[in-house]
Amino acid sequence: MSGTPLETHLVRLIRETGPIPLSHFMALCLAHPEYGYYMTRDPLGARGDFVTAPEVSQMFGELVGLWLADRWLAEGSPAPIAIVELGPGRGTLMADALRALRSVPRMLDAASIHFVETSPVLRAAQCERFPDASWHSSADEVPDLPLFLIANEFFDALPITQYQRTDRGWCERCVGYVEGRFVPLLAPVAAANDKALPPALAAAAEGAIAEICPAGISIVSGIASRIATHGGGALVIDYGHERSAAGDTLQAVRNHAFADPFEAPGEADLTAHVDFEALAHGVRSGGAAAHGPVRQGAFLCALGIEARAGQLARNASPSQREALERALRRLTASDEMGSLFKVLGITPPGSPPPAGFA
Ligand SMILES: C[S@@+](CC[C@H](N)C(=O)[O-])C[C@H]1O[C@@H](n2cnc3c(N)ncnc32)[C@H](O)[C@@H]1O
Repeated sequence: MSGTPLETHLVRLIRETGPIPLSHFMALCLAHPEYGYYMTRDPLGARGDFVTAPEVSQMFGELVGLWLADRWLAEGSPAPIAIVELGPGRGTLMADALRALRSVPRMLDAASIHFVETSPVLRAAQCERFPDASWHSSADEVPDLPLFLIANEFFDALPITQYQRTDRGWCERCVGYVEGRFVPLLAPVAAANDKALPPALAAAAEGAIAEICPAGISIVSGIASRIATHGGGALVIDYGHERSAAGDTLQAVRNHAFADPFEAPGEADLTAHVDFEALAHGVRSGGAAAHGPVRQGAFLCALGIEARAGQLARNASPSQREALERALRRLTASDEMGSLFKVLGITPPGSPPPAGFA
């Protein structure tokens, strides 16, 4: 074991209380107030642990901004409105989106900008770029206004609960500490409430692993209910699967490479693939319409990313043109981010499919 400061805390906790639920382990690794991964660093970019789509190219945020503008116009240009981002990282997506929105008369005059962010390090970076924005610790705190919201690689960072099918029924997967290592262990008794599991997994075979993300469902239902009541629209973009399915998708990334999720707690990004079927169900239970999910590559192409790349290439040097080509490929190609990443749209009930989902 690496002996991270969080390790000492976790070992003591497990000694005192027994193996802890995976969701608890993940929450502490990511958000422990002193030692949590997101509390102590800016993990993005070449010198961090991973690169996200807005950091790949300005085209991503610009197209997201234009999608929000299209929704605003479709809603009859309401004012005032809240433009909200969940987990904004360095604020790059919002900066690119707002630049694109300058070409939309009156939308920015009607808008206040809101960030939902728990990391003090990233909040400070966002604050430098957007001194007039408002920050919130949870999505419930954003004002009751028509909501134009984006969440890119936010839902994958929320703690998941895992169950494994055994001859005793579904048992929760916990984290214990054995011979100097954190290890996944099954709770000795079957989970009392199997109803939390996706119906598609009812007939899963012994050994199958089921994942749920209660925090994600609760957040997306809350957003949906606000959009159903006040209007607006939202995009959830993340890596994940279209349909609920069995499987262990917990992963750790450190220095741009996969790592063991149970090694070096607090030093690696822990995530899980997003179950878009479960999220879409959460949207509908909040009273809004869910569109998609569609693949990121198809979504960006439908919004015109190739034309935007062509436009940027016109004034670019040969090396900038090459970089643009690489970025376009990275965001849209099936063997890069184009298929693994999905986009879910949220609108008030009864709205026709928004741009990119037709
Ligand atoms: C993977 S980064 C994505 C950053 C940005 N959206 C992008 O695409 O570059 C995850 C972001 O979500 C924030 N975050 C993680 N868990 C959160 C939570 N429970 N509440 C609010 N923000 C959270 C992180 O601090 C970070 O800003």
